[in-house]
Amino acid sequence: MPLTTICDFIRFATSRFNEANVVYGHGFDSALDEATYLVLTSLHLPHDMPPVYAAATLLPDEREVLQQRIHERVSRRMPTAYLVGEAWFAGLSFKVTQDVLIPRSPIAELIERGFAPWLQQPPERVLDLCCGSGCIGIAIAVHVPESHVDLADISLDALQVAGGNAADHGIEDRVEFIQSDGFGALGGRRYDLIVANPPYVSQAEVDALPPEYAHEPMLALVSGEDGLDLPVRLLAGAAMHLDPTGVLILEVGDSADRLAALFPEVPFRWAEFERGGGGVAILDRDELVAFAETFGAEDQRRGAR
Ligand SMILES: C[S@@+](CC[C@H](N)C(=O)[O-])C[C@H]1O[C@@H](n2cnc3c(N)ncnc32)[C@H](O)[C@@H]1O
Repeated sequence: MPLTTICDFIRFATSRFNEANVVYGHGFDSALDEATYLVLTSLHLPHDMPPVYAAATLLPDEREVLQQRIHERVSRRMPTAYLVGEAWFAGLSFKVTQDVLIPRSPIAELIERGFAPWLQQPPERVLDLCCGSGCIGIAIAVHVPESHVDLADISLDALQVAGGNAADHGIEDRVEFIQSDGFGALGGRRYDLIVANPPYVSQAEVDALPPEYAHEPMLALVSGEDGLDLPVRLLAGAAMHLDPTGVLILEVGDSADRLAALFPEVPFRWAEFERGGGGVAILDRDELVAFAETFGAEDQRRGAR
């Protein structure tokens, strides 16, 4: 029996995903959840479509696209976001290619709740460092209409994706794109909020991840032997780019314990999330000045380990 309807394809994809034990680490809870998203998005259909349309018959070329994408998802473990070219973050749609990490940072929740309780007022000058698709900085620009956001990344390909996303959300006049290795190209720019989701995983940890993650750019995941090379550089350089009352929000995910153990005297505050995730540190400028002053010694300690 051929597959003919929308419902057929959602059922078929769900069965294949379950059979193949695909991993749902990129924003989905279950095979049915991901299969429904893959089928409806590929067909350019709204996700709140009345159930009666599930019985609609698909055209041959639509079936071919769906067969191909379901096959790619199962045989190559290609994440659905790359197959459909879209991911959702902070309630907004972002275009994604394999040049950028698939957005999934818990920082989305901080943006949606106006950074409470960490910021007393909406940020005006913002830096999204390691911006990738631009999801964090662009979501801030959309949620905080008075903000101006610099989006920086070492990857020109990522910046190009971020540029497309900024245009899609109509905020190009309030954002600037800068190719930068860490703070390297940011000169004397200062901000009242710096947000960074840098690579923070070790090569050994990446090697142990499910095959879905191998499709993401390694530049976006791995940072040195213990995963902390870039995060520590950002901690050391942030004070110079913050206004006196400025704040750094730095994601280090599962490397949080390692970072805290490496710098036991640093008063990291860790954000809590209702929707899951963690490892997001918040530090103010004075704490980062202290970090920068002791960084030389700490850097040697890291080198001596
Ligand atoms: C974990 S991804 C985060 C992307 C995006 N902010 C998000 O949350 O989905 C890390 C990003 O850091 C960039 N990156 C890696 N090394 C960098 C460096 N030395 N300086 C600036 N950006 C860097 C990568 O190109 C990648 O886009």
